[in-house]
Amino acid sequence: MLNRLEPQSPDALLALIKLHAADERPDKIDLGVGVYRTGQGATPVFGAIKAAEQALVDTQDSKSYLGPEGDVGFVNALMPYIFGTDATMGGRLQGMQTPGGTGAVRLAVALAQNAGMTKIHMGTPSWPNHAQIFGDIDLEWQAFDHANSDGTANLDAVLGAIRNAKPGEGILLHACCHNPTGIDYTLEQWEEIGDALAQTGTFPILDSAYQGLGQGLEADAAGLRSVLAKVPEALIAYSCDKNFGLYRDRVGAFYILSKDGGETLDKAFSNANALARASWSMPPDHGAAAVRIILRDSDLTAQWLDELDTMRERMRQVRQYLADAGTAGSVDLTALGTQNGLFAILPVTKEQVVALREDHGIYMAGSGRINVAGLTMDNIDKFIGALAAVTG
Ligand code: LMR
Repeated sequence: MLNRLEPQSPDALLALIKLHAADERPDKIDLGVGVYRTGQGATPVFGAIKAAEQALVDTQDSKSYLGPEGDVGFVNALMPYIFGTDATMGGRLQGMQTPGGTGAVRLAVALAQNAGMTKIHMGTPSWPNHAQIFGDIDLEWQAFDHANSDGTANLDAVLGAIRNAKPGEGILLHACCHNPTGIDYTLEQWEEIGDALAQTGTFPILDSAYQGLGQGLEADAAGLRSVLAKVPEALIAYSCDKNFGLYRDRVGAFYILSKDGGETLDKAFSNANALARASWSMPPDHGAAAVRIILRDSDLTAQWLDELDTMRERMRQVRQYLADAGTAGSVDLTALGTQNGLFAILPVTKEQVVALREDHGIYMAGSGRINVAGLTMDNIDKFIGALAAVTG
């Protein structure tokens, strides 16, 4: 049986982690996988998480099963941050915990497919795993251009995709800090997107994996909220990997917005529960429990928000430095200053990506995506110089 399987190439992004680890050059630079790094290049555990974990050790009296929906206290505590003061939107929203944002995206598309979604539209480039998840559940998908060449979002393309979608089709939208481009829709553009979704009935799935890393927790939720205020129903995938630094603990959440609460919401939620049970049975508890402890404690919440501010400000500083540099060889870096989050796409060829890696010890995705948090005031000039050397 097993011999019939075709070999699969390792995930290119994850393979970079190993390549970088094996490189012995002391001045190597990791701009690959999307994890936040401090100005010293570390990815420490948040202080607020450490404190919450200690409280968990001290107080947790059982690790017995919770059920497919996971830690409901965690799921509910996140809701005001994601959805605003009317956190359940009048009882129309209900959520469950998932293994990371990936689990939430998978649950969202599988549930929508079971509900009759025949195809999904997605702006490209996108996080490569989106297409892999669609492929894995045999969901047809169609690309539209996410960005214009000047580094702004392509509004016409997304509106065209929404308006030309046939009944029963959906669209996947990145709520903020677009991965891999860093290019987000403006609030005015989100309003138009929401109007088009409401007019056409194209089904929205929103992926929010970086809230707080762009312009701030509230600002990063504004686009998502403006869409949800206009549409009758939607699915939302959420990740705490980055904004709580919980990457390997796999902490995510999935929310269903239904036209009205009640029977439709119950029915959809029971389907999500069944899918979760058949996929992973129950999500891992530890990280979500730590987030719940933080969000129920005002001091820990303040500490977490402070740590998140520090992260965001550091990334803005790096972006500004790059933007101020202007150009490096043939690469114009100025738009990076107005883009958001961990990522930016540089217009470099595959050969130039390889040259940066082999000749300069600089690791980035083959698409030309860089994780700006991999740059520090110690290595940023080397990076700009290498980019100039390779593209100039
Ligand atoms: C990334 O895009 O680097 C992150 O979302 C990590 C991942 O799982 O790919």
